[in-house]
Amino acid sequence: MKFDGKVALITGAAGGIGKEAARLFKENGARLVLVDLNEEALKNMVDELELKDFLLIPADVTKEEDVKNYTKLAVEKYGKVDVFFNNAGIVGDFAEITEVTSEDFNKIIDINLKGVFYGLKHVLRVMKEQKSGCIVNTSSVAGLGGSPSLGPYAATKHAVNGLTKTAAVEVAGEGIRVNAICPSPVDTALMRDLDEVKSPEDSSKARGAYEQKIPLKRYATPTEIAELVLFLCSEQSSFMTGGAYLIDGGYTATY
Ligand SMILES: NC(=O)c1ccc[n+]([C@@H]2O[C@H](COP(=O)([O-])OP(=O)(O)OC[C@H]3O[C@@H](n4cnc5c(N)ncnc54)[C@H](O)[C@@H]3O)[C@@H](O)[C@H]2O)c1
Repeated sequence: MKFDGKVALITGAAGGIGKEAARLFKENGARLVLVDLNEEALKNMVDELELKDFLLIPADVTKEEDVKNYTKLAVEKYGKVDVFFNNAGIVGDFAEITEVTSEDFNKIIDINLKGVFYGLKHVLRVMKEQKSGCIVNTSSVAGLGGSPSLGPYAATKHAVNGLTKTAAVEVAGEGIRVNAICPSPVDTALMRDLDEVKSPEDSSKARGAYEQKIPLKRYATPTEIAELVLFLCSEQSSFMTGGAYLIDGGYTATY
């Protein structure tokens, strides 16, 4: 198995993409450190994924102390962190820039940007000491272009790409690779909730309209995204670092 004996730390682990990544890493032999704000959803994963070798850590990625603590607990239990999927995120309110509240702007920055930054800061310290590791940060197609009515979200995802490239260059000589993934819509709660906000009377209308703009005519599955994460953390991608990899069914190829 590709990740036999490896330790994979995942944030947003109880969400659609995080949980699927946890399942695939587990199936490939990894030991899991699962971090999420939603403690109940984390606990439900134990039976759902038939987890055996794992650590559950309820934590808020917006708090540097929590991030320091999840890193410390991972090292205390397993002595290392081989893989870090820095993935927790929210989409925020659906509103044009003129209507965005400071509260929503700050909330999104705290989770999507500061959370990713704190994760990089503390996990990279461990990886630099062990002189090895692979990191994948979750960005979005919104990290590559404008996203009407999702301005703060787009800003955080552009920032994640900037942090990814900077970190990759800083640690390239130390056996550590850092990449970002940029998915178009994925069939998870995040996207389903957004579709409901866009068309409250019938969310399938919003979804259908978006799917029409994607050449493959559908949302990605969480499995398709998780497969890319595993590839970027495997030996098969040993020359890949500092990239922001599109996984978008051709969405951004249309323009
Ligand atoms: N679903 C999509 O269409 C899509 C597309 C591109 C990028 N993304 C990105 O993928 C990542 C995962 O999203 P998802 O689709 O799985 O959404 P999701 O809502 O299913 O999962 C997100 C998880 O993050 C957790 N979380 C939220 N705030 C947190 C905090 N402060 N501390 C710790 N955990 C917290 C939630 O509890 C949840 O389990 C996000 O960064 C999102 O921006 C999603």
